[in-house]
Amino acid sequence: MNAVLGVSGSIAAYRAADLARELMRAGFTVRVCLTDAAQEFVSVALFEALTGQPCLIDTFDEPERGRMAHIDWARAADVVVVAPATANTLNRLAAGVGDDMLTTLCLASTRPLVLAPAMNPQMYLHEATQASLALLEERGAVIVEPLEGDVACGESGQGKLASIPEIVAAVLETVSVSTVLKGKKVVITSGPTREPIDDVRYITNRSSGKMGSALARAALRLGADVTVVAGPQTARFPSGVSVLRVETAQEMHDLALTAAKGADYIVGAAAVADYHVANRTSGKLRRTAENLELVLSPNPDIIAALAAANPGATVIGFAAEPTSDLSVAQAKLKRKGLFAIAANDVSQAGQGFDTDTNKLDLVFADGRSVSSEMMSKNQCARWFWDQILKES
Ligand code: CTP
Repeated sequence: MNAVLGVSGSIAAYRAADLARELMRAGFTVRVCLTDAAQEFVSVALFEALTGQPCLIDTFDEPERGRMAHIDWARAADVVVVAPATANTLNRLAAGVGDDMLTTLCLASTRPLVLAPAMNPQMYLHEATQASLALLEERGAVIVEPLEGDVACGESGQGKLASIPEIVAAVLETVSVSTVLKGKKVVITSGPTREPIDDVRYITNRSSGKMGSALARAALRLGADVTVVAGPQTARFPSGVSVLRVETAQEMHDLALTAAKGADYIVGAAAVADYHVANRTSGKLRRTAENLELVLSPNPDIIAALAAANPGATVIGFAAEPTSDLSVAQAKLKRKGLFAIAANDVSQAGQGFDTDTNKLDLVFADGRSVSSEMMSKNQCARWFWDQILKES
């Protein structure tokens, strides 16, 4: 296996030498890319001697003449690890800036990205850094959180590079689980639906599609062939996921039933509108002094229809409930003929609609349940697939 180790200019750069060795012990061929600032702390000679591989430093470096190293290295890598990752490097990665070899290589890479930040605690807490970390994590990067403690600049707080064993474990987990769902077809419904009132207005809900996107990303990471039937949502999907866009529940129903043929896993993460407007007006409804009555007719239950049409698939639903009582979710699971249902208590802060975090209770048909911690939606999605794979 090949790892690209990006080293940026933190005092912790000296610890990247140990990390390179430990990654080699874990079976990786390690090729190191140093930023200019990293070279103020550590040298090319150190890493070339340690790894037995050439280092990349300048965007136009070509260890093999005529071959574009940023593309070659990005293609050959099984994983890209940036440790230590400084605030500047994280912010450039989040913005998609490619103004040196490391950031250019990361832009050219489709491989898993593991980031181990190390910096002054204030720089870590800065809104720009936190926003970049959130964005990178949303895109699927694995963040190995820095530790609390005294940092080299004399301050105390969160900013110390995580331990080398912890970084190596995160890298191994990222690459080693990537074939568990190989050859498996996963279909996910995601986001809200929109039910038109007239040609310019609609009924919808607060779903952002972030959980569906995280589930798709995690399944892709596990090697699955992933299709998402996505309502109009803001969350992005990583390349490699096939995204089928729909607006209404009826469209989602029709497309999902076709897409799910032969699926091994079907996940209903969409917040489907339960009703559509039966007396929809074409054109634009005009304001009058009278009351306006909308007639709402029930939409099909998509996940129930998917479960009925695909008896060979493992079908899992979601249930956003304003309560911690799991009996409501359990009843839904039975009613819809599901293998399991992931309940989240949306009466609690940080869980459910349009948040970056979530906490799930996964309830199985036999009544057993397992609960996650409060985690980022990406971590929650990885937890979700771990549990489903254990049980199915
Ligand atoms: N679901 C669906 N089609 C619908 C409604 C819900 O596929 N028309 C799916 C959701 O994607 C989710 C699960 O069913 O996986 C539970 O959704 P939820 O809205 O909680 O359940 P409802 O059936 O709408 O029940 P209630 O209105 O009682 O909450």
